[in-house]
Amino acid sequence: MSNRTYKVAVVGATGAVGEAMLAVLVERRFPVGELVALASERSAGDYVKFGNDEVMVRDLATFDPAGVDIALFSAGGAISKEYAPKFAAAGAVVIDNSSTFRYDDDVPLVVSEVNPEAAKHRPRGIIANPNCSTMQLMVALKPIHDAAGIERINIATYQSVSGTGRKALEELGRQTAALLNFHEVEPEVYPVQIAFNVIPHGGDFTDNGYTTEEMKLVWETKKILGDDAIRVNATVVRVPVFYGHSEAVNIETRDKLDAQDARALLERAPGIEVVDEPRGGGYPTPVTHASGRDPVYVGRIRDDLSHPRALNLWVVSDNIRKGAALNAVQIAELVAAEHG
Ligand code: A2P
Repeated sequence: MSNRTYKVAVVGATGAVGEAMLAVLVERRFPVGELVALASERSAGDYVKFGNDEVMVRDLATFDPAGVDIALFSAGGAISKEYAPKFAAAGAVVIDNSSTFRYDDDVPLVVSEVNPEAAKHRPRGIIANPNCSTMQLMVALKPIHDAAGIERINIATYQSVSGTGRKALEELGRQTAALLNFHEVEPEVYPVQIAFNVIPHGGDFTDNGYTTEEMKLVWETKKILGDDAIRVNATVVRVPVFYGHSEAVNIETRDKLDAQDARALLERAPGIEVVDEPRGGGYPTPVTHASGRDPVYVGRIRDDLSHPRALNLWVVSDNIRKGAALNAVQIAELVAAEHG
């Protein structure tokens, strides 16, 4: 094990994911020699918590990236597009949480438990972090794909508002309080009221009638599993939950794998915790299990009664942790491990 330390930049350090990145770096004792917290000019001069330290936020626009070893980006696609290549050109390995580079052939898209070896081949110095919904799905499905070959995935998501960012967290809190006090609410972040509601819409609508959040599940699954033949049918739904995405998943496999064998397989798999007992509370939920925790939780594992080779799963994980910040730091660990 080397004693090397790294100059690490967190771009978007004041955001929901950036804050979690700082916490996860500390928790996992990533060998940070120097931490640079970057955000917009608005936040420059503010402080963010980094373990027991307070680190002053600097303005990304005027920051010189020379000397940065690893840069974790989570400040939105436009910022990644403009600044990630500049950091990479200055010698940093960029780990990018936006969708900007995810589908580029020369940018690996990595889930640390699923395709860690892909992180090594990064000709542009950029590694992409998958979308939060795809992330937890891949951790849960990789062991099943290896054992029985997944041919088709049918998924409906129940996504929390934290995936949209800090303003969405505030909107859910504000609307909930207002409605409980019999006040009217004006939607700002989402097109319609999110409190006490469910919204079948994530991202932007595309020409085929699906949303970008739905198409990310289609494209990213194929790239991460390295299998273009997998068919994915997705419906993305936003629910009034603060932290933690849930997914009702039906998978059709090439070879028969029954629920009992799938459960045994998942119990041994990395990054997964199986919570699957047929009683009230014997299943994972965002509030009781996932929020603030690292694992991908899998429950409600059942044979599909309508199909000879299909299974149902319920997959829950903290979208800010494994879905974004934790996986980004795990990728940084893969990069650091290259140095021995
Ligand atoms: P800031 O707080 O200065 O706006 P979230 O997704 O939770 O809303 O967080 C978005 C993150 O991206 C924040 O840290 C935000 O910083 C950062 N960000 C937004 N616009 C810019 C910008 N123009 N330059 C640098 N960082 C930005």
